[in-house]
Amino acid sequence: MKRVHNFSAGPSMLPESVLAKAAAEMLDWDGTGQSVMEMSHRSKAYESIIAGAERLVREVMNVPEDYHVLFLQGGASLMFHMIPLNFMTVNKKADFTLTGAWAIKAIEEATRLGKANTVGSSKDKKWSYLPVITGADPEADYLHITYNNTIEGTQYHKIPDTKVPLIADISSGILSEPLDISKFALVYAGAQKNLGPAGVTLVIIKKDLMPRIPANLPAMLSFQTHVDNGSMFNTPPCYAIYIVKLVLEWIQETGGTKALFAANQKKAELLYGYLDQSKFFCSPVESADRSLMNVPFLTRVADPEVAEAVNKKFVKEAEATGLVNLAGHRSVGGMRASIYNAMPIAGVEKLVAFLKEFETKNN
Ligand SMILES: Cc1ncc(COP(=O)(O)O)c(C=O)c1O
Repeated sequence: MKRVHNFSAGPSMLPESVLAKAAAEMLDWDGTGQSVMEMSHRSKAYESIIAGAERLVREVMNVPEDYHVLFLQGGASLMFHMIPLNFMTVNKKADFTLTGAWAIKAIEEATRLGKANTVGSSKDKKWSYLPVITGADPEADYLHITYNNTIEGTQYHKIPDTKVPLIADISSGILSEPLDISKFALVYAGAQKNLGPAGVTLVIIKKDLMPRIPANLPAMLSFQTHVDNGSMFNTPPCYAIYIVKLVLEWIQETGGTKALFAANQKKAELLYGYLDQSKFFCSPVESADRSLMNVPFLTRVADPEVAEAVNKKFVKEAEATGLVNLAGHRSVGGMRASIYNAMPIAGVEKLVAFLKEFETKNN
């Protein structure tokens, strides 16, 4: 069997033991004689899976009682619209930090429904830092942040102070470290990074936001519908939720988000440490705001055409040694190593060794 070190930003690596368990249970889940893929979502067996997944989200993320936990579809991208549709409904305006491609998309969707006010932008320096929040509107319905900017490689290491409810896209930071959910009114994440496979979106909503939801929304677009039906108004992404449950069990067995945080810090220190002393590679991100999960990097080659050729060579040669998906996002170029929870330290060690070797040969 061949396994590579996969640095994809998402869908991305899953813990091997989770995949092995899913494989072992593929034909017969817990003596039912059925695969989870074949089960009715209304069966007792499946009800225990989705209830178990919710219980584990609550335990592992320490979700307070006064929050709903939902498993939805449509990705984080649907949340960019559904959140303003449901909650930007009091004064019809919200504040946003503009920190990269996903923040732009969140703002674009909110703009369809009301006023999306930018209260800090890092566009001036190619998204290489997180801006200070200025001009916050005390009457904004909420403040929205992209907690971890997957493409640009920045991450909030301190939750911003705000007088209005705080909403965060935590798609690429979820479960990478302990997060105090009580500081947020709502967090959401597409699963396909630290949580499971693509196809399910986790949404955690403080119950006191619910009265803001307009009564006449299309059923599927109303959070109320999904709360009222325990994430089963329609057929949920059954198999994806089952894998989320297995990933959360793995996290619990591994020591929870505290242990993952320690491991993630070690991996990030190793990689950034190398980049910062390299004469050939560098990180474009200011050190205080660097992401633990997504590490973009560049060469110091000045000529853009030559740099592009070197990047391609790097990605190709890395792939040949079993280090895959290291190309930067198509919108920014360069390289990017996503080092999510499931990436073992051995993968980062191998990457750093390869970076050193490439530097020696090409500098
Ligand atoms: C931070 C962030 N937000 C939103 C998205 C979009 O998520 P989806 O593809 O689940 O709609 C992504 C996808 O990578 C992301 O990284």
